[in-house]
Amino acid sequence: MDTVSFVQELEAFKAERLSPIVGAGQLSLADGAHGDGKKMLQVALANEISVSELAAAWMPSVPQIDVKIALARQAGDEAGHFQLVADRLAALGFDIAEFQGAAENPLFAYMKSLSGTVERIAAGLFTLESIAYVVNENFMAFCGRRGDAETVRIYREYIQPDERAHQQLGQRLLAKYAITTELQQAAKEAVIKVLEIATATRAQAAARMGTACFPGC
Ligand SMILES: [Fe+2]
Ligand SMILES: [Fe+2]
Repeated sequence: MDTVSFVQELEAFKAERLSPIVGAGQLSLADGAHGDGKKMLQVALANEISVSELAAAWMPSVPQIDVKIALARQAGDEAGHFQLVADRLAALGFDIAEFQGAAENPLFAYMKSLSGTVERIAAGLFTLESIAYVVNENFMAFCGRRGDAETVRIYREYIQPDERAHQQLGQRLLAKYAITTELQQAAKEAVIKVLEIATATRAQAAARMGTACFPGC
């Protein structure tokens, strides 16, 4: 398949598989948006640092220079998001020195196991960043209902534009590098796997936190 049609099809497939994740958050919102906003921002901290570390870990072993630079810039952007969220938490009275770092997580364990450039683009920029964007929208709605306009502003003005740009970069890089049937198959498998693991881990975390509105990276 030509790469443009391939990416279009994969986009449609991804959107369909994202809908249960979006729906779970909307259900929590409709249910009255219970949950602890500060705990949810700590989830954001863990996710932002994990994805920054992942992009940084992938960067040296990717031979394609444009992908290498994309990963390096993403690592920096996600570190910036970490700092924005950390500053917000500090303003809300959370001592950032208490942050323990991100716990082992099956999603990042799977992502770290990927060695091919196309799988990494498909799993990371293309899929994980799309998940981040849609779950952050639900988190912003949650914060809005709580009257936390400042957190909403930080996500609207800084974090979400980056997450969208990461996802669009993933589309462009896939269209450039997923040029054979084998590579397209590998990309699709990575997309399926990331969505599968993310759907399961988010459902577990939602049960623990009492809400599915917590943010992504
Ligand atoms: Fe991102
Ligand atoms: Fe981020």
